[in-house]
Amino acid sequence: MPAFTSTSPGKIILFGEHAVVYGQPAIAVPVTQVRARVTVLPQPRAPRGQVSIHAPDVGLQTTLDALPADHPLAAAIRGVMTELSVEHIPACMVRISSSIPVASGLGSGAAVSVALIRALAAYLGRPLADERVSALAFEVEKIHHGTPSGIDNTVVTYRQPVFFIKGRPLETFSIRQPFTLLIADTGVASPTKETVADVRAAWQAEPARYERLFAAAGSIARAARQAIEAGQPQRLGPLMNENHALLQEMGVSSHHLDALVRAAREAGALGAKLSGGGRGGNMIALVQAETKDRVARVLSEAGAVRVIETEVRNQE
Ligand code: MEV
Repeated sequence: MPAFTSTSPGKIILFGEHAVVYGQPAIAVPVTQVRARVTVLPQPRAPRGQVSIHAPDVGLQTTLDALPADHPLAAAIRGVMTELSVEHIPACMVRISSSIPVASGLGSGAAVSVALIRALAAYLGRPLADERVSALAFEVEKIHHGTPSGIDNTVVTYRQPVFFIKGRPLETFSIRQPFTLLIADTGVASPTKETVADVRAAWQAEPARYERLFAAAGSIARAARQAIEAGQPQRLGPLMNENHALLQEMGVSSHHLDALVRAAREAGALGAKLSGGGRGGNMIALVQAETKDRVARVLSEAGAVRVIETEVRNQE
């Protein structure tokens, strides 16, 4: 039995995070500069059915049986076993590595799940269709995020820009003119599960106010899609600024994020906003060829621990 490897990109949300959990549209794109990688290697000398798990990045060395059932890795592996009606996996080692920072809004959880599900299904000789991979990863996302929308597992599985509405079939769209974003990391870990739960509590306390904020974010996502399809990415700048203001009102920004957003705009970015769950993690800035170096430098000076440049375009 050969070894099988699968890799998955990270992702960023361009518009509509949080509101997407409540049925509004959101736009997300894959980020191929960061990746999760999973290899499943046969271990013919190991005890029958033993699945060892080695994830050195997070200091994890264990076996499937030793993990609690609600551990995301155990849930992903058992999800594949149930899907394929497999009771015992031929003894193997699952090696996981990732350059996607955890709890930073770049979809590290979804990327590991998707790569693991694909690699394991291939190891078992039964590769899964994308739709099933995404559905299994969504079940794991519920452990990571509590009440996720499904956007992370969708964009990571299909590796294409998506216009996502919860519960609806995959909708991709055309990026008429590619554009460049800088992704800057505050270095502050912020688990999405916490911000999603806090927004839920705030929505329950003030439903009318939050629904207005969500609807406004949804309108911005629709306008952004039109601008992208029309080949006018510069129109995204003001929309990003408006979306950031709504996220501030939802209570998911932070002084770190606001400082980076302000610094990017002052250095010439066309717009900037937090991206993902918020409170920490990453922000994004829309830049042009003539401003991108200055904005990247200013973001680092303002405290970003890492700045990634990514071009948003349709998949080749
Ligand atoms: C996380 O990448 C995006 C959120 O909207 C949560 C979700 O949609 O599941 C914050």
